[in-house]
Amino acid sequence: MAPRIEAPEFRLTKTDVVKKVEDILAPLKLSEEVQKRIREVYDEEMRIGLARNPSRKSCLQMENTYLPELPNGTEEGEYLALDLGGTNFRVILLQLEKGRVVSDEVQHYFVPEPLRVGPGSELFDFLAACIYDFLETRSKLDHKLPLGFTFSFPMTQQDLNVGILVSWTKSFNCPGVVGEDAVKMLNEAIQRRGDLEVEVVAVLNDTTGTLVQGAFLDRKCAIGLIIGTGSNACYIERVDRVEKWEGTHGDIKEVVVDIEWGAFGDNGVLDFMKTEYDQMLDKNSLLVGSFTFEKLFSGKYLGELTRLVLVKLAEEGLMFGGKIPSQLLRPGSFPTRFVSLVEQDAVLKLARPVSSESCFHELGIEHGSDDLKILQQVCFAVTERAAILLAICLSATLMRVDREECTIAVDGSLYKYHPRLHHLLEHYIIKMTPGKKFSLLLAEDGSGKGAGLIAAIANRLRTRKHS
Ligand code: GLC
Repeated sequence: MAPRIEAPEFRLTKTDVVKKVEDILAPLKLSEEVQKRIREVYDEEMRIGLARNPSRKSCLQMENTYLPELPNGTEEGEYLALDLGGTNFRVILLQLEKGRVVSDEVQHYFVPEPLRVGPGSELFDFLAACIYDFLETRSKLDHKLPLGFTFSFPMTQQDLNVGILVSWTKSFNCPGVVGEDAVKMLNEAIQRRGDLEVEVVAVLNDTTGTLVQGAFLDRKCAIGLIIGTGSNACYIERVDRVEKWEGTHGDIKEVVVDIEWGAFGDNGVLDFMKTEYDQMLDKNSLLVGSFTFEKLFSGKYLGELTRLVLVKLAEEGLMFGGKIPSQLLRPGSFPTRFVSLVEQDAVLKLARPVSSESCFHELGIEHGSDDLKILQQVCFAVTERAAILLAICLSATLMRVDREECTIAVDGSLYKYHPRLHHLLEHYIIKMTPGKKFSLLLAEDGSGKGAGLIAAIANRLRTRKHS
């Protein structure tokens, strides 16, 4: 009879655990060499994205926003702004006086999932219904209001009020809209109702709104950045460097370019740094194979990335006493706000990591004190990677901006609520652009206020054209 082989007892020493956790987190660390390569690839994609006849297509759209000027302090009047991009849709009424937003009334409407992935015409009917509700409650239905539409998705713009959807991103995937003009679809929905007096005069990306709002707060502002559900940036580029922009541009010297950096890597140029967690995350996402860069860190994904790493650690018997909590197996169960909470403990250095505990508590997961430490290590690792990736692309963008000193206007939930992101970004940008003068400025509600200001600019440009 063959001798019975006893399974060796599976017990890891503390040193084993520390070492194994480090090994599992190692792929998330970006070495200097990898950082350099990402920077080179990004620079090259930017260059190709602006070129007239490139030999291949860039994954960076580098879109002309048709915004030839920033607010000049003369903007006046009442404007409506719409903000669509996250799960909330907002309608905003803005009062402008001398380029200043003197009052804004905001209403949030939740966009249910069936509308986010259902037929496009239903989504736009919903937007029009929200506008009606907003104006009716304020007895403003008979006001002729110019409207600025913040549509935070990749668009091809053909004018300040023409925005053709290139692809859906984040939580939206409505059939029948890609290739169509979002302004036209909104106008049609408004006309179908027949009871609204509003006119869509401008369509913009949230980064553009943020840049405009930033420029209002600080004249040195030349970059608009969003680190929220998604991530993207725009910047002021010299027209003579936008080779692909054909035609005459009169006196226009500069133009705001929407980079759409969320799609960085969609052509495979970032494959060399993607981890197994990134691959898994993409495979389970709504829009597989698209928006590679955004999926590495933005608000919609950072918590999910953390969850996947935690599952791996649990599977390896390094957490939760060797059991895998079923709560963690559910995609989306670890929201990004948990990462910010855990990081708060690191910042406050409290004797007891109360915020980290509260995350496990909310999930109903039993844990020990070592689990809390490992959780902090994971959140630290995904945060560091996020900050470095953002800093690489920001530094490259900053070096393109034709200004001695440049303010970067930032908005977005992840930037606002993550307790360390701002400082980390500053730290890494300084390291990557030695000697360059810059500052990061929170430009809150750029997508709302910026939309109002751009609608006012659109009005001004029209009047100028017709006079
Ligand atoms: C996504 C969109 C982009 C937007 C960003 C931030 O990346 O494609 O247009 O600016 O999210 O909301």
